[in-house]
Amino acid sequence: MYSFIKKGLFSLDAEQAHNVTLKTLGMIGKTPAKYLLQTALRCPQGTPKTCMGIRFKNPIGLAAGADKNGDAIDGFGALGFGFIEVGTVTPLAQDGNPKPRQFRLLEAEGIINRNGFNNRGVDYLVENVKKANYDGVIGINIGKNSTTSVENGKGDYIYCLNKVYNHAGYITINISSPNSPGLRQLQYGEALDDLLQGIKLRQKALADYYNKYVPIVVKIAPDQTEAELVQIADTLRRHEMDGVIATNTTLSRDSVQGIANAEQQGGLSGKPLQHLSTQIITRLHQELKGEVPIIGSGGIDSVASAEQKITAGAELLQLYSGLIYHGPHLVKSLVEGIK
Ligand SMILES: Cc1cc2nc3c(=O)[nH]c(=O)nc-3n(C[C@H](O)[C@H](O)[C@H](O)COP(=O)(O)O)c2cc1C
Repeated sequence: MYSFIKKGLFSLDAEQAHNVTLKTLGMIGKTPAKYLLQTALRCPQGTPKTCMGIRFKNPIGLAAGADKNGDAIDGFGALGFGFIEVGTVTPLAQDGNPKPRQFRLLEAEGIINRNGFNNRGVDYLVENVKKANYDGVIGINIGKNSTTSVENGKGDYIYCLNKVYNHAGYITINISSPNSPGLRQLQYGEALDDLLQGIKLRQKALADYYNKYVPIVVKIAPDQTEAELVQIADTLRRHEMDGVIATNTTLSRDSVQGIANAEQQGGLSGKPLQHLSTQIITRLHQELKGEVPIIGSGGIDSVASAEQKITAGAELLQLYSGLIYHGPHLVKSLVEGIK
């Protein structure tokens, strides 16, 4: 069935195909059709997993970027995900980069995107999260507006944190998108220290105010040097972050040399990222010494590739590109196959 749908979707430009899918899932999610979809897919609940103090009905999640504004939470939920990460969302709505900005690397089962945080702003997203009936965990991924300098970036994260805190199962600090100029500088040295200190202080104040603790995780890139990775791990431990997502998309093109669209600018995801992100998880796991749980993301397209990330040290998993190439049955096979 998906091969038929995929043919239609792949005849469209990658972002158009995404918009059609999102609209369809958004509509399905708002009607009883979502139960029909759930029944048709026969996705089991899976094996529950407790991580960061939260019970996940299964460890397979939708990665950020697929539903930036939370328009289709219930539709994606019907596919069987144990958790759904919406966003990246910024304080104010922004258009992102000029189109076209998403490209398929068909032979490699990869995607390159340079969207640049196109989203409708944090308030719009929060309203959608409030309306959702999804019975899994909703993570909210936050970023900074492109008009905010990197130096003032912390203010945007704190602004979004205040807005989303009471509505999120967990919150992701995205400092690893390659499409927001300078953003990745926040992953290093004093900039990271200062950002995480501010975020932890705010988390404490919000936890007291709402009388509930919402975990905060940091999403990192796969493109650091060994020394940088060690430093990031040390900073995450020192600030007692609740988790880390490894990884975002890569700027490397080593695994896609000579493939059509490989020359496009942006972050590469999907199968070509699979090995690199698993390597980062392995190193990170060694450095974090079990103190900060890892959510593994990057090229998951089968039970075997998912299990490699678990063996490397990931406790939860997320996917996006695999869904595009393999369809909803991938979610089912992962939920069924991962113990
Ligand atoms: C089109 C597209 C848009 C994305 N947008 C975001 C985003 O807004 N925020 C974010 O943290 N990650 C974003 N990502 C990265 C994914 O969340 C994920 O970490 C990455 O694609 C690796 O997983 P995958 O290989 O399963 O796609 C995006 C990825 C793609 C393909």
